[in-house]
Amino acid sequence: MAPSNLPESTTPAEVPAPYGSGPGTGAQTPPAAGRKPASRIRIHHLQQAKDNGEHFAMLTAYEQYTAEIFDQAGIEVLLVGDSASNNVFGNETSLPVTVDELLPLTRAVSRAAKRALVVADLPFGSYEISPGQAVATGVRFLKEGLAHAVKIEGTAYYAETVKAMVQAGIPVMAHIGFTPQSEHALGGYRVQGRGDDAQRLVDDALALQDAGAFSVLMEMVPAETAAVVDAALRVPTVGIGAGNHTTGQVLVWQDMAGLRGGKMAKFVKQYADLRTTLTDAAAAYGEDVRSGQFPGPEHSF
Ligand code: KIV
Repeated sequence: MAPSNLPESTTPAEVPAPYGSGPGTGAQTPPAAGRKPASRIRIHHLQQAKDNGEHFAMLTAYEQYTAEIFDQAGIEVLLVGDSASNNVFGNETSLPVTVDELLPLTRAVSRAAKRALVVADLPFGSYEISPGQAVATGVRFLKEGLAHAVKIEGTAYYAETVKAMVQAGIPVMAHIGFTPQSEHALGGYRVQGRGDDAQRLVDDALALQDAGAFSVLMEMVPAETAAVVDAALRVPTVGIGAGNHTTGQVLVWQDMAGLRGGKMAKFVKQYADLRTTLTDAAAAYGEDVRSGQFPGPEHSF
């Protein structure tokens, strides 16, 4: 169903700047006549989507231009995921990335996105020790990273943490099911919530919702379990590898757009082949330089 209650998207830029000229370059183009200017997606819009049986889209973003493009394409939520660890910083897992590494990425995405709700992941080790630690880290992501909300991974054990953060004014999305920060504890990338284990996810989701989480994200959960969790919750759910009964869906953008090479998870649908496009562009540029064809007179002063 179309998300009719979510604010309208921005009009894509018509006149590109000659070269990068700061955050929000394209979004500075005024909306076409007769179109409402984009208004910010808020957490209550996501709740309206759930209440109305609508869906919203979420993508990861880690820097200015993809944030701007996805925002103008109408993606409702941008996630500055700790997956930056393996998709930006070259690590094998999400565990090594730090608060100091994620904060500048979050700030870039938040500055570039004029409409989308920007959610930042709290990295491993930055919230587990106590609710106080989680509040302190969450404050940094809203204050220094300019995020609108944060996401933490965890079970019902983190209900007190969520409660403390929400009371401090930090909107929290809770991430359950397969939680990549616990990859070693969970024994690798494994589907969670199969069969009798489904009730555990329902209990976790309810505890986190009752603690004040505005949304619950489920990763690698059987579609029927995710549907049961979604039905049990008042708040909107987001799925990644969790079937199509959630309010929202999220994918890592490099997977969605085919920038990353290698084996894709079953739940990934690729909408482009940016790896081939960029490889071809780089190879053509290299050829032109080596053969003396670039720069030609039209690119010379
Ligand atoms: O960091 C991330 O990209 C995520 C998604 C897998 C939801 O948490």
